[in-house]
Amino acid sequence: MTSSKVRSIKVKTENLKPGMKVARDIENDTDGIFIPARTILKEDHISRIKELGHKYIYVIFKKEEPSKEEAARKKKLEKEYKENTARVKNLFNKVKKDKKIEYNEIKDLVVEANRLGTEMDILDLVNMLRTADEYTYTHSLNVSIMANMFADWLDFDNKNQISLTLTGLLHDIGKARIPDEILNKPGSLSDEEFEEMKKHTIYGYQMITDIKEIPPEIKMGVITHHEHFNGDGYPLKIKSKKIPLFGRIIAIVDAFDAITANRVYKAKSSPFQAIEIFVEEETTHFDPGLKQVFLEHLPNYFIKENVILNDGRIGEIVFINPIRPESPIVKVSDQYIDLAKETEIKIKELF
Ligand SMILES: [Fe+2]
Repeated sequence: MTSSKVRSIKVKTENLKPGMKVARDIENDTDGIFIPARTILKEDHISRIKELGHKYIYVIFKKEEPSKEEAARKKKLEKEYKENTARVKNLFNKVKKDKKIEYNEIKDLVVEANRLGTEMDILDLVNMLRTADEYTYTHSLNVSIMANMFADWLDFDNKNQISLTLTGLLHDIGKARIPDEILNKPGSLSDEEFEEMKKHTIYGYQMITDIKEIPPEIKMGVITHHEHFNGDGYPLKIKSKKIPLFGRIIAIVDAFDAITANRVYKAKSSPFQAIEIFVEEETTHFDPGLKQVFLEHLPNYFIKENVILNDGRIGEIVFINPIRPESPIVKVSDQYIDLAKETEIKIKELF
Protein backbone atom coordinates (compact mmCIF):
# COMPACT_ATOMS: atom_id res chain seq x y z
CA MET A 1 0.00 0.00 0.00
CA THR A 2 1.41 3.40 -0.88
CA SER A 3 0.80 6.24 1.51
CA SER A 4 1.26 9.90 0.82
CA LYS A 5 1.67 13.15 2.64
CA VAL A 6 -0.68 15.97 1.72
CA ARG A 7 0.70 19.45 1.43
CA SER A 8 -0.93 22.60 0.11
CA ILE A 9 1.04 24.67 -2.32
CA LYS A 10 0.52 28.20 -3.61
CA VAL A 11 0.07 28.10 -7.40
CA LYS A 12 -0.14 31.17 -9.61
CA THR A 13 -3.49 31.42 -11.44
CA GLU A 14 -1.85 31.26 -14.87
CA ASN A 15 -0.33 27.89 -13.94
CA LEU A 16 -3.59 26.26 -12.84
CA LYS A 17 -4.56 23.08 -14.70
CA PRO A 18 -7.82 21.09 -14.77
CA GLY A 19 -7.58 18.21 -12.32
CA MET A 20 -5.82 20.15 -9.57
CA LYS A 21 -7.53 19.91 -6.18
CA VAL A 22 -8.34 23.12 -4.32
CA ALA A 23 -6.84 23.24 -0.80
CA ARG A 24 -8.69 26.27 0.64
CA ASP A 25 -12.13 27.74 -0.05
CA ILE A 26 -12.07 30.34 -2.82
CA GLU A 27 -14.35 33.31 -2.29
CA ASN A 28 -15.84 35.89 -4.61
CA ASP A 29 -16.82 39.42 -3.64
CA THR A 30 -20.57 38.90 -3.35
CA ASP A 31 -21.71 35.45 -2.21
CA GLY A 32 -18.73 34.25 -0.20
CA ILE A 33 -17.40 30.83 -1.11
CA PHE A 34 -17.83 29.95 -4.77
CA ILE A 35 -15.35 27.08 -5.00
CA PRO A 36 -15.10 25.05 -1.81
CA ALA A 37 -11.94 23.33 -0.65
CA ARG A 38 -11.33 19.85 -2.17
CA THR A 39 -13.04 20.76 -5.47
CA ILE A 40 -11.30 19.27 -8.50
CA LEU A 41 -10.73 22.16 -10.88
CA LYS A 42 -12.32 22.21 -14.34
CA GLU A 43 -11.61 24.68 -17.18
CA ASP A 44 -14.61 26.88 -16.26
CA HIS A 45 -13.49 27.08 -12.59
CA ILE A 46 -10.09 28.28 -13.77
CA SER A 47 -11.62 30.93 -16.06
CA ARG A 48 -13.80 32.19 -13.17
CA ILE A 49 -10.80 32.34 -10.81
CA LYS A 50 -8.98 34.41 -13.43
CA GLU A 51 -12.01 36.68 -14.00
CA LEU A 52 -12.25 37.35 -10.30
CA GLY A 53 -8.67 38.55 -10.32
CA HIS A 54 -7.18 35.97 -7.93
CA LYS A 55 -3.42 36.04 -8.45
CA TYR A 56 -2.91 32.60 -6.91
CA ILE A 57 -4.77 29.89 -5.04
CA TYR A 58 -3.73 26.98 -2.83
CA VAL A 59 -3.90 23.48 -4.29
CA ILE A 60 -3.37 20.11 -2.69
CA PHE A 61 -0.22 18.31 -3.62
CA LYS A 62 0.48 14.76 -2.54
CA LYS A 63 4.00 13.74 -1.88
CA GLU A 64 4.73 10.08 -1.57
CA GLU A 65 5.40 9.22 2.04
CA PRO A 66 8.80 7.64 2.66
CA SER A 67 8.81 3.95 3.52
CA LYS A 68 8.91 2.95 7.21
CA GLU A 69 12.61 2.15 6.90
CA GLU A 70 13.36 5.49 5.25
CA ALA A 71 11.39 7.40 7.91
CA ALA A 72 13.27 5.52 10.66
CA ARG A 73 16.61 6.27 8.97
CA LYS A 74 15.79 9.98 8.79
CA LYS A 75 14.71 10.05 12.44
CA LYS A 76 17.90 8.34 13.56
CA LEU A 77 20.05 10.72 11.49
CA GLU A 78 18.27 13.77 12.88
CA LYS A 79 18.89 12.56 16.42
CA GLU A 80 22.57 11.87 15.73
CA TYR A 81 22.98 15.19 13.95
CA LYS A 82 21.52 17.03 16.95
CA GLU A 83 23.75 15.14 19.38
CA ASN A 84 26.84 15.94 17.36
CA THR A 85 25.89 19.60 17.00
CA ALA A 86 25.72 19.69 20.81
CA ARG A 87 29.19 18.08 20.99
CA VAL A 88 30.64 20.70 18.62
CA LYS A 89 29.01 23.40 20.75
CA ASN A 90 30.62 21.95 23.87
CA LEU A 91 33.99 21.90 22.13
CA PHE A 92 33.67 25.59 21.18
CA ASN A 93 32.57 26.54 24.71
CA LYS A 94 35.42 24.62 26.28
CA VAL A 95 37.97 26.22 23.95
CA LYS A 96 36.51 29.62 24.81
CA LYS A 97 37.07 28.94 28.48
CA ASP A 98 40.38 27.02 28.47
CA LYS A 99 41.86 28.69 25.35
CA LYS A 100 43.14 25.32 24.11
CA ILE A 101 42.05 21.97 22.73
CA GLU A 102 42.73 18.49 24.05
CA TYR A 103 43.06 15.89 21.32
CA ASN A 104 40.82 13.52 23.30
CA GLU A 105 37.92 15.93 22.89
CA ILE A 106 38.02 15.82 19.12
CA LYS A 107 38.99 12.19 18.56
CA ASP A 108 35.47 10.82 19.04
CA LEU A 109 33.83 13.69 17.20
CA VAL A 110 35.78 12.99 14.02
CA VAL A 111 34.77 9.33 14.16
CA GLU A 112 31.13 10.46 14.38
CA ALA A 113 31.52 12.92 11.48
CA ASN A 114 33.19 10.21 9.44
CA ARG A 115 30.26 7.86 10.06
CA LEU A 116 27.67 10.55 9.28
CA GLY A 117 29.53 11.18 6.01
CA THR A 118 28.82 7.63 4.90
CA GLU A 119 25.23 7.52 6.19
CA MET A 120 23.94 10.89 5.01
CA ASP A 121 23.56 12.34 1.57
CA ILE A 122 23.77 15.99 0.60
CA LEU A 123 20.00 16.45 0.64
CA ASP A 124 19.77 15.10 4.21
CA LEU A 125 22.40 17.62 5.15
CA VAL A 126 20.78 20.57 3.38
CA ASN A 127 17.40 19.67 4.93
CA MET A 128 18.55 19.32 8.54
CA LEU A 129 16.82 21.79 10.77
CA ARG A 130 19.35 24.50 11.60
CA THR A 131 18.79 27.60 13.61
CA ALA A 132 20.70 30.76 12.76
CA ASP A 133 22.04 31.14 16.32
CA GLU A 134 23.63 27.69 16.23
CA TYR A 135 25.19 28.44 12.85
CA THR A 136 28.85 28.15 13.87
CA TYR A 137 28.34 24.64 15.30
CA THR A 138 26.10 23.14 12.58
CA HIS A 139 28.35 24.76 9.98
CA SER A 140 31.46 23.08 11.42
CA LEU A 141 29.64 19.75 11.46
CA ASN A 142 28.32 20.18 7.91
CA VAL A 143 31.67 21.24 6.48
CA SER A 144 33.21 18.22 8.16
CA ILE A 145 30.60 15.80 6.74
CA MET A 146 30.83 17.31 3.26
CA ALA A 147 34.64 17.21 3.40
CA ASN A 148 34.26 13.51 4.19
CA MET A 149 32.13 13.06 1.05
CA PHE A 150 34.62 15.10 -1.01
CA ALA A 151 37.37 12.70 0.10
CA ASP A 152 35.34 9.86 -1.44
CA TRP A 153 34.92 11.77 -4.71
CA LEU A 154 38.70 12.23 -4.81
CA ASP A 155 39.37 8.56 -3.91
CA PHE A 156 41.32 9.46 -0.78
CA ASP A 157 42.54 6.60 1.39
CA ASN A 158 41.05 6.18 4.84
CA LYS A 159 43.79 8.08 6.68
CA ASN A 160 43.51 11.13 4.42
CA GLN A 161 39.72 10.98 4.53
CA ILE A 162 39.79 11.18 8.33
CA SER A 163 42.31 14.04 8.18
CA LEU A 164 40.16 16.04 5.75
CA THR A 165 37.06 15.38 7.91
CA LEU A 166 38.92 16.69 10.95
CA THR A 167 40.04 19.78 9.01
CA GLY A 168 36.36 20.50 8.31
CA LEU A 169 35.50 20.08 11.96
CA LEU A 170 38.28 22.42 13.12
CA HIS A 171 38.36 24.94 10.26
CA ASP A 172 36.48 27.64 12.19
CA ILE A 173 37.56 26.68 15.73
CA GLY A 174 39.47 29.98 15.90
CA LYS A 175 36.05 31.69 16.04
CA ALA A 176 35.94 30.59 19.68
CA ARG A 177 38.36 33.49 20.26
CA ILE A 178 36.31 36.07 18.33
CA PRO A 179 34.09 38.22 20.60
CA ASP A 180 30.39 37.27 20.40
CA GLU A 181 29.34 40.77 19.40
CA ILE A 182 31.41 40.44 16.22
CA LEU A 183 30.66 36.76 15.60
CA ASN A 184 26.88 37.12 15.92
CA LYS A 185 26.49 40.66 14.62
CA PRO A 186 23.35 40.79 12.47
CA GLY A 187 24.49 43.60 10.16
CA SER A 188 27.67 43.96 8.16
CA LEU A 189 30.98 44.26 10.01
CA SER A 190 33.03 47.46 10.18
CA ASP A 191 36.52 47.33 8.64
CA GLU A 192 38.04 46.91 12.07
CA GLU A 193 35.62 44.14 13.04
CA PHE A 194 36.25 42.34 9.76
CA GLU A 195 40.00 42.48 10.35
CA GLU A 196 39.42 40.83 13.74
CA MET A 197 37.07 38.23 12.23
CA LYS A 198 39.70 37.29 9.63
CA LYS A 199 42.06 36.34 12.46
CA HIS A 200 40.00 33.22 13.23
CA THR A 201 42.19 31.44 10.68
CA ILE A 202 45.36 32.29 12.63
CA TYR A 203 43.76 31.71 16.04
CA GLY A 204 42.57 28.27 14.89
CA TYR A 205 46.08 27.38 13.71
CA GLN A 206 47.60 28.55 16.99
CA MET A 207 45.16 26.46 19.02
CA ILE A 208 46.13 23.21 17.31
CA THR A 209 49.74 23.81 16.37
CA ASP A 210 51.18 22.06 19.44
CA ILE A 211 48.91 19.01 19.26
CA LYS A 212 51.28 16.32 18.01
CA GLU A 213 48.49 13.90 17.04
CA ILE A 214 47.23 16.42 14.46
CA PRO A 215 49.24 16.13 11.21
CA PRO A 216 50.59 19.29 9.54
CA GLU A 217 48.20 19.10 6.54
CA ILE A 218 45.25 19.62 8.91
CA LYS A 219 46.93 22.62 10.55
CA MET A 220 47.69 24.10 7.12
CA GLY A 221 44.13 23.40 5.95
CA VAL A 222 42.72 25.32 8.92
CA ILE A 223 44.87 28.40 8.36
CA THR A 224 44.30 28.49 4.56
CA HIS A 225 40.55 27.84 4.23
CA HIS A 226 39.92 31.52 3.33
CA GLU A 227 42.72 31.85 0.77
CA HIS A 228 41.46 32.52 -2.76
CA PHE A 229 42.79 30.80 -5.86
CA ASN A 230 43.68 34.21 -7.37
CA GLY A 231 45.63 35.25 -4.26
CA ASP A 232 43.25 37.85 -2.83
CA GLY A 233 42.11 35.79 0.16
CA TYR A 234 43.54 35.80 3.70
CA PRO A 235 45.57 35.54 5.93
CA LEU A 236 48.64 34.42 3.93
CA LYS A 237 47.50 35.77 0.52
CA ILE A 238 48.99 32.78 -1.27
CA LYS A 239 47.59 31.74 -4.64
CA SER A 240 46.73 28.76 -6.87
CA LYS A 241 48.42 25.45 -6.02
CA LYS A 242 50.54 27.15 -3.36
CA ILE A 243 47.40 26.94 -1.24
CA PRO A 244 47.54 23.47 0.37
CA LEU A 245 45.03 20.94 -1.01
CA PHE A 246 42.97 20.70 2.21
CA GLY A 247 42.56 24.49 2.31
CA ARG A 248 41.35 24.51 -1.32
CA ILE A 249 38.79 21.76 -0.65
CA ILE A 250 37.46 23.27 2.58
CA ALA A 251 37.04 26.65 0.81
CA ILE A 252 34.51 25.02 -1.56
CA VAL A 253 32.40 23.13 0.99
CA ASP A 254 32.59 26.08 3.40
CA ALA A 255 31.07 28.39 0.74
CA PHE A 256 28.40 25.87 -0.29
CA ASP A 257 27.24 25.40 3.29
CA ALA A 258 27.22 29.15 4.01
CA ILE A 259 25.05 29.83 0.92
CA THR A 260 22.52 27.10 1.73
CA ALA A 261 22.18 27.96 5.46
CA ASN A 262 19.87 30.39 7.21
CA ARG A 263 21.93 33.17 8.72
CA VAL A 264 20.97 35.95 11.09
CA TYR A 265 21.02 38.35 8.14
CA LYS A 266 19.80 36.19 5.24
CA ALA A 267 17.47 33.32 4.34
CA LYS A 268 19.00 30.20 2.88
CA SER A 269 19.34 29.71 -0.87
CA SER A 270 18.37 26.48 -2.62
CA PRO A 271 21.22 24.08 -3.50
CA PHE A 272 20.68 24.89 -7.20
CA GLN A 273 21.09 28.61 -6.56
CA ALA A 274 24.33 27.71 -4.80
CA ILE A 275 25.42 25.50 -7.70
CA GLU A 276 24.73 28.39 -10.10
CA ILE A 277 27.01 30.65 -8.03
CA PHE A 278 29.80 28.07 -8.36
CA VAL A 279 29.23 27.67 -12.10
CA GLU A 280 29.36 31.43 -12.68
CA GLU A 281 32.39 31.98 -10.48
CA GLU A 282 35.32 32.79 -12.78
CA THR A 283 38.24 31.10 -11.05
CA THR A 284 38.70 33.81 -8.49
CA HIS A 285 38.02 31.97 -5.25
CA PHE A 286 38.20 28.26 -6.00
CA ASP A 287 40.55 25.75 -7.59
CA PRO A 288 38.91 25.06 -10.99
CA GLY A 289 39.80 21.35 -10.98
CA LEU A 290 38.30 20.79 -7.52
CA LYS A 291 35.27 22.90 -8.39
CA GLN A 292 34.77 20.62 -11.40
CA VAL A 293 34.82 17.53 -9.14
CA PHE A 294 32.34 19.20 -6.80
CA LEU A 295 29.96 20.12 -9.65
CA GLU A 296 30.21 16.63 -11.14
CA HIS A 297 29.15 14.89 -7.94
CA LEU A 298 26.95 17.18 -5.92
CA PRO A 299 23.92 17.72 -8.24
CA ASN A 300 23.48 13.95 -8.72
CA TYR A 301 22.21 13.72 -5.15
CA PHE A 302 19.11 15.65 -6.25
CA ILE A 303 17.89 13.36 -9.06
CA LYS A 304 14.26 12.24 -8.50
CA GLU A 305 13.68 14.95 -5.90
CA ASN A 306 10.60 17.17 -6.02
CA VAL A 307 11.03 20.85 -6.77
CA ILE A 308 8.99 24.05 -6.84
CA LEU A 309 9.87 26.25 -9.80
CA ASN A 310 9.94 30.06 -9.68
CA ASP A 311 6.69 30.14 -11.74
CA GLY A 312 4.91 28.10 -9.07
CA ARG A 313 4.86 24.80 -10.95
CA ILE A 314 5.80 21.58 -9.21
CA GLY A 315 7.98 18.92 -10.77
CA GLU A 316 10.64 16.29 -10.38
CA ILE A 317 14.31 16.46 -11.34
CA VAL A 318 14.89 13.74 -13.92
CA PHE A 319 18.25 14.51 -15.50
CA ILE A 320 21.37 16.50 -14.60
CA ASN A 321 23.14 17.97 -17.61
CA PRO A 322 26.87 17.53 -16.87
CA ILE A 323 27.70 20.67 -18.89
CA ARG A 324 25.01 22.74 -17.13
CA PRO A 325 24.68 21.18 -13.64
CA GLU A 326 22.76 24.20 -12.33
CA SER A 327 20.01 23.70 -14.93
CA PRO A 328 18.62 20.15 -14.82
CA ILE A 329 15.68 18.73 -16.76
CA VAL A 330 12.51 18.86 -14.67
CA LYS A 331 9.39 16.80 -15.35
CA VAL A 332 6.17 18.73 -14.74
CA SER A 333 3.04 16.57 -15.27
CA ASP A 334 3.85 14.93 -18.62
CA GLN A 335 6.09 17.70 -19.86
CA TYR A 336 9.91 17.80 -19.73
CA ILE A 337 11.38 21.24 -19.09
CA ASP A 338 15.05 21.77 -19.87
CA LEU A 339 16.11 24.59 -17.58
CA ALA A 340 19.27 25.05 -19.68
CA LYS A 341 17.00 26.13 -22.58
CA GLU A 342 14.19 27.83 -20.66
CA THR A 343 16.49 30.22 -18.87
CA GLU A 344 13.73 32.23 -17.17
CA ILE A 345 12.70 29.17 -15.16
CA LYS A 346 14.66 28.39 -12.01
CA ILE A 347 14.39 25.94 -9.14
CA LYS A 348 13.11 27.84 -6.14
CA GLU A 349 12.94 25.08 -3.59
CA LEU A 350 13.52 21.36 -3.16
CA PHE A 351 11.06 19.47 -0.99
FE1 LIG B 1 36.20 30.40 8.32
